[in-house]
Amino acid sequence: MSTEKEIRKAAEILSNAKNVAASCGAGVSAESGIATFRDPGGVWEKLNPAEVGTASGLVNALNQNAARFIPFFIELLEAFEQAEPNPAHTALGELEKMGILKTVITQNIDNLHLEAGNTDVIEVHGNGFRLACLSCANTDTCERKELIASVKERLRNLSEYSLSTLSTLLPQCSRCGKITRPDVVMFGEMVKDIPRAFDVAKKADAMLAIGTSGVVYPAAYLPFEAKGAGAPVIVVNPNENPFARISDAYIPLNAGEAMPQILDAVKALRK
Ligand code: APR
Repeated sequence: MSTEKEIRKAAEILSNAKNVAASCGAGVSAESGIATFRDPGGVWEKLNPAEVGTASGLVNALNQNAARFIPFFIELLEAFEQAEPNPAHTALGELEKMGILKTVITQNIDNLHLEAGNTDVIEVHGNGFRLACLSCANTDTCERKELIASVKERLRNLSEYSLSTLSTLLPQCSRCGKITRPDVVMFGEMVKDIPRAFDVAKKADAMLAIGTSGVVYPAAYLPFEAKGAGAPVIVVNPNENPFARISDAYIPLNAGEAMPQILDAVKALRK
């Protein structure tokens, strides 16, 4: 069926819904200049997830040769600093304002859904701009660009790169003054708020699955949970993915292209 028809089908589903959930992955932020993980040129092409994907692996790798990671680290900081919510993020924000979308469940740590105006965002892999204290478990929420600017400044002032010098790049805990780390989920660590994410998926009256390869669990279960509970599933992804076979509407476009078109079609139906 033509993409145009699929967009209309998606709009019909959404315009009749009022408790929609959106399950989002790295593809949603690709057009904000943040690389995905498994696409050509992605993060896992530059770094070996088996080596640095776990906390202990990353600590070992930095202990052995921290300098090796600095170029990639600077590239990452630049990408997260210059990123802005793109039309996919803003369309999701508008769908919430229209009373259609209730909850965004994201695997992204970039804070862009919140910056785009969504108010109920379940960040199952954490948030790169919230700092977790390694001693007292307190968390401090930072402003994205301010935090990156201070990390870049401290990085410039480092005379040598090692695990101990790199651990001074982040602000210390505001409660106990000890070392912090980004409050993100590394492989092998507990994902966040997953019971609520599953509950939202099961209760949704429609599910959007946008920009995710569907290979990382438990997040990859969510569209299937919604489908199993009777909700229609709308998939937005320019590439094949496991959700295509359960989709009620499949839009093989970039999210920044597809979501504004879907939003406009919903508005047209609601006129
Ligand atoms: N718009 C929509 N989808 C896109 C776009 C785009 N502009 N560009 C790429 N995609 C799709 C790709 O086709 C792919 O299916 O986004 C998906 C990105 O897949 P991954 O890189 O595997 O990202 P994601 O599914 O979010 O990965 C899940 O894996 O490495 C871990 O913790 C990391 O949260 C991450 C998790």
